[in-house]
Amino acid sequence: MAVSVRPSHASTVFGLCEDSKCMSDPLIKAALAAREHAHAPFSGFKVGAALATESGRIFTGCNIENATYGLTICAERVAVFKAISEGARDLRRVAVATDREIPSPPCGACRQILWEFCGDAELILVNLQGNSESLRLSDIFPRPFDASLL
Ligand code: THU
Repeated sequence: MAVSVRPSHASTVFGLCEDSKCMSDPLIKAALAAREHAHAPFSGFKVGAALATESGRIFTGCNIENATYGLTICAERVAVFKAISEGARDLRRVAVATDREIPSPPCGACRQILWEFCGDAELILVNLQGNSESLRLSDIFPRPFDASLL
């Protein structure tokens, strides 16, 4: 099977990437590369995230754990906070890389933060084998709480 990164508004897809479509996507490459920097000595669960702006600028993050556990921060939030702190606001695409057989989605806290800054972005979940799933944030974060409710 050879399906991978699909355009925005694609329904959920899971399948093997074709090199030309998936592993060559700079955003996916960036998420996989960022995962290599993960500091995850406690869980052993390494995560990489990458965000792309409208103009194609890419920001990355990895999870950074702490011996107190609770101070751990997820890869997605590291990437968002890096982007925001550097003045980026037009975040449009998100990729998350793990080594799970079924590519792993962002946790609940990260979904909220991603919604705040990326809106209903394209979300690509990928693993080391190149299996990927392409969806929208709203697919996994329906009826969000956001500024429109305040
Ligand atoms: N983790 C992330 O980096 N992103 C998520 O969305 C889920 C969880 C990290 C946090 C912790 O370092 C490890 O994965 C296990 O929970």
